Amino acid sequence: MPSPVRVMGVDLGTTKVSAIIAEIDKSGKPIVTGVGTERCEGIRKGVIVDIEKTVSSIEGAVQAAELMSEHSPKSAFVSISGDHIKGINSTGVVAVSRPDKEISESDIERVITAARAIAVPNDRRILHVIPQEFVVDDQNGIELPVGMAGIRLEVKAHIITCSATCAQNVIKSVKRAHLDVDALVLQPLATGYAVLTQEEMDLGVAVIDLGGGTTDVSVFKDGAIRHTSILALGGNNITNDLVIGLRTPFGQAESIKVNHGCAIPSSADQGIVDVPGVHHRKTRQISGKVVAQIIGPRLEEVLYMVKGVLTKSEYYETLGAGVVLTGGTSLIAGIEDLAEDILSMPARVGVPERVGGLTEYVKDPKMSTGVGLLHYAGNTLVKGGVPSIEQHVRIGNVFGKVRRWVSAAF
Ligand SMILES: Nc1ncnc2c1ncn2[C@@H]1O[C@H](COP(=O)(O)OP(=O)(O)OP(=O)(O)O)[C@@H](O)[C@H]1O
Ligand SMILES: [Mg+2]
Repeated sequence: MPSPVRVMGVDLGTTKVSAIIAEIDKSGKPIVTGVGTERCEGIRKGVIVDIEKTVSSIEGAVQAAELMSEHSPKSAFVSISGDHIKGINSTGVVAVSRPDKEISESDIERVITAARAIAVPNDRRILHVIPQEFVVDDQNGIELPVGMAGIRLEVKAHIITCSATCAQNVIKSVKRAHLDVDALVLQPLATGYAVLTQEEMDLGVAVIDLGGGTTDVSVFKDGAIRHTSILALGGNNITNDLVIGLRTPFGQAESIKVNHGCAIPSSADQGIVDVPGVHHRKTRQISGKVVAQIIGPRLEEVLYMVKGVLTKSEYYETLGAGVVLTGGTSLIAGIEDLAEDILSMPARVGVPERVGGLTEYVKDPKMSTGVGLLHYAGNTLVKGGVPSIEQHVRIGNVFGKVRRWVSAAF
C-alpha cells in the first residue's frame, strides 16, 4: 500500500493563523488529520506588518496541527491577501504548432505564456494565471482542448498580480518558521474552492469572505474564477465601532459582538447586555438592539461596497446562484437577510465542503480559506499532469517544480 500524500495549508489571516494537515485521497479530496490555530497580531488588513509576531503565530499553529496529526510536513501551501492584490482578465493567442494541427500540451503552455505577457511594473509580480476558457479557431467555451484539431488557439485567462514586497514578506515569515512554500495562493481563490458547489461555480456566484481585516470578493462563472477584489474592511472595524459606540475595551467589544451581535436592529435580541467600562469604570447595561444599531450600518457599508465592486465587474446581473458568505463575520445573526436585501439576490453562509477526516475542527466559516488551500493542493496533484496520486515520488516533483517557481519568482 503506497503511503498517502500529505499536504499542509497555512492561512495567514488578520486575526489568526491556521494550519491544517491533510492526506489527499485519489480524487483530490483532503482528509484532515491535524488542525492548529493561533492568534496573530503581526498582520493588518491581510498584510504582514510584523514578521516576528507572524513567525511566532505560524510556529504555534503548525506545532498544534503537527501534534494532532503526528506528522510534520516540511512545506506548506500558504495564503496571501491584502488590497495590493489585483485581478485582470487577459487573452493569449498562438498558432497550433504540430503539422497535423492537433493541439498538444505544449500549445497550452505557449498560449498561457502568451496570456501572461502583460506589462507588470517592477514592484509587482504575477501570482496566478488561471485559464477561464479556450477558443479553438472560432469555437469558444472549451475547457481542455488537448487532442482537438485547430489552427488558432486562444485562451481567456484571469491574471492575479500582487506587490512583490508583500509576497516576499509572506515567504520570509514561512521560511523563518522552518517551512518551504509549495505555492502562494490567493485567499479568495482558495476560499471559493472550499465553499462552492460545482453547480454554483457553473451558474455564476459571488463569494464574499467577511474576515477580520479584509472582505474578499470573488466571482466564479462557467466553472472558473472571473473577478477578484480585496476590500480593506472587516470584522475588526465592527469591533472598533463597538469600542467607540459603547466605550468599552476591544476585548469586551469583541465578545459583545460575538455573543449578542445582529445585523438587523429590528430583529435584534431585546435582552440586556452588560458593557464593562474602561479601566475600573462601572459596568453599564444596554439593550441588544443598541448593539445591532452599531453593527448594522457598518455591515451595510461593507455590503454596499461589495455591490459596487460586483456592479463594476459587469458580472452582477449574471450571478444565477447568488452569493455565498463566509469568514468569521458571516457568523453574525441576520447577515444572510441583510445581504439578500442589499444585493437583491439569494445568499447563504458557506462552510468548507468536500472534506473528510477531522471535519468537526474545520466545518466553520473561519476555516474556509485554510481548507481551500488543501483543495488547491489536491487540484495541483490531480490536474497537474500527474497520472495517479499513488505515484507520490512524481508528486513530490510536481510540488518541487511549483516550489522552484515560487523561489525564482519572488
Ligand atoms: N460568532 C461570531 N459573530 C460575529 N463575528 C465573529 C464571530 N466569530 C468570529 N467573528 C469575527 O470574525 C473575524 C475573524 O474572521 P476570520 O477568522 O475569517 O478572519 P481572518 O481570516 O483572521 O482575517 P482576514 O481574512 O480578514 O485576513 C473577527 O473580526 C471576529 O470578531
Ligand atoms: Mg481570512
